[in-house]
Amino acid sequence: MDLFDAICLRHSYRGPMETTPVPREDLDRIVGAGIRAPSGKNAQTTEFIIIDDNSLLQELQALHPANKAMQQAPAMIACIIDKTPEKIYEGYDFQLEDCAAATENMLLAITALGYASVWIDGWLRVGNRADKVAALLHLPDDKKVQILLPVGTPKEQWEQKERQPFSTRVTYNRYS
Ligand SMILES: Cc1cc2nc3c(=O)[nH]c(=O)nc-3n(C[C@H](O)[C@H](O)[C@H](O)COP(=O)(O)O)c2cc1C
Repeated sequence: MDLFDAICLRHSYRGPMETTPVPREDLDRIVGAGIRAPSGKNAQTTEFIIIDDNSLLQELQALHPANKAMQQAPAMIACIIDKTPEKIYEGYDFQLEDCAAATENMLLAITALGYASVWIDGWLRVGNRADKVAALLHLPDDKKVQILLPVGTPKEQWEQKERQPFSTRVTYNRYS
């Protein structure tokens, strides 16, 4: 698939998924796209857990009953960063940005391979959910789950939401 087609087709999918497993070869390609993302100072801080074990998936699914994609996805990808990131450049760290760049690469790869997903991040931040997921994934105390991506074949056709017109968000040379 052409890159610009993938960018326009990618959308957050929260609907029902086929139960067909996602082959590990595809999951590895998706995470490989995440690994290819840029990172601040090339520190490559994001780590990934590919989840395709049914009993573990069921435990994760029980945490998010409102989202059908999270309920039914035959695989998930967890993006892991440090709880207290090391400041690696002039007092700054870039772990959130590194993780976001990897996530967008993976969402585009998911789209290009005909699967669907949704960026689960805000949900993890509420009510200690990230801690509950971390416990299920046996994370050490100094790591946290920043983003979860359910991955599967969508049962329904959804489209990307409308975007504000180009002209309301973009100017040339100076802000106006
Ligand atoms: C930082 C960030 C956090 C997000 N957290 C969640 C989330 O926790 N749950 C969810 O269903 N969608 C989440 N989303 C998806 C957004 O709601 C979605 O991208 C937005 O509504 C635009 O829709 P689209 O992805 O279909 O273009 C998140 C997206 C981003 C970038």
